[in-house]
Amino acid sequence: MKSIQDIRIRFVGAGNMAASLIGGLINKGMTASQITASDPGKNQRDYIEKQFQILTYGDNNAHFGMPDIVIIAVKPQIMKKVLKNVAPSIVRTSPLVVSVAAGITTQQIKQWLGAELPVVRTMPNTPALIGQGAIGMYANEAVDENQKLMTEQVMDAVGTSIWVKKESKIDAVTALSGSGPAYFFMFMEYLQQAAEKLDLSAEDAALLTKKTAIGAALLAERSPETLSQLKDRVTSPNGTTAAALASFTANDIRNIIEKAIQAANDRSVELSKEFD
Ligand SMILES: NC(=O)c1ccc[n+]([C@@H]2O[C@H](COP(=O)([O-])OP(=O)(O)OC[C@H]3O[C@@H](n4cnc5c(N)ncnc54)[C@H](OP(=O)(O)O)[C@@H]3O)[C@@H](O)[C@H]2O)c1
Repeated sequence: MKSIQDIRIRFVGAGNMAASLIGGLINKGMTASQITASDPGKNQRDYIEKQFQILTYGDNNAHFGMPDIVIIAVKPQIMKKVLKNVAPSIVRTSPLVVSVAAGITTQQIKQWLGAELPVVRTMPNTPALIGQGAIGMYANEAVDENQKLMTEQVMDAVGTSIWVKKESKIDAVTALSGSGPAYFFMFMEYLQQAAEKLDLSAEDAALLTKKTAIGAALLAERSPETLSQLKDRVTSPNGTTAAALASFTANDIRNIIEKAIQAANDRSVELSKEFD
């Protein structure tokens, strides 16, 4: 298997997600000479070159080299156009193609490249921008074990990744971790506002909300106990937490969450059809 020091990677699209991955990979020990990127935006290229000392090009096919992995990191709306443009270089060099674009299927990627190629579809989330992503990945049948291991090394540079065996499960990953940060932000926003109504200052409410969320998440990660056990542990009978949880339950919070996740899953299914 190729180690991280031997992999050559080409990024197509050098925006936020590409920059996070490049930063994470360099932190993990890759050298700038192993990575190139293309992006039409001159300012973005200048930023990436200055930040990471990698070579960048305005033309997706320029100085393509022989990459082991090509990471497609452009917006889903332009995937078709970009893949058709870069197809000659990809088909000629036959790398592993990794997409981070939401809603674009491996079948669409193969179709737009016009070739049978190993393709991995990933679903990162915004905390990947600070190295704390939760990432779901699906590999098509042409991807071999070494390529899967290489992909893991790349995606683990910006967080924690899991494989799903069926591509349709990427819709569930999208509904859970892809969109998930927004659910937590919304919950935290309402928590903060509710605390302000109890006469805490906006500043104090914001600080306590964020620290509580971080503390609870770290405790959940580090504790061997289940979420349910952790919840029970902070809930004494007739206490304050019990009063709040009873209010949530009376308003059927479980059903509210189930419906929201289902809506996100359904929208993810619809989106891939819209991009076709
Ligand atoms: N950001 C996240 O946390 C996140 C999470 C999950 C998934 N994703 C996925 O990651 C992908 C990239 O998202 P992002 O947030 O990194 O977006 P972004 O910051 O807009 O990056 C996309 C880059 O692609 C460039 N581009 C435009 N046309 C191109 C072309 N023809 N060839 C090559 N590059 C081109 C854009 O340049 P211009 O700006 O000049 O157009 C931009 O620099 C998306 O598909 C998104 O679904 C992102």
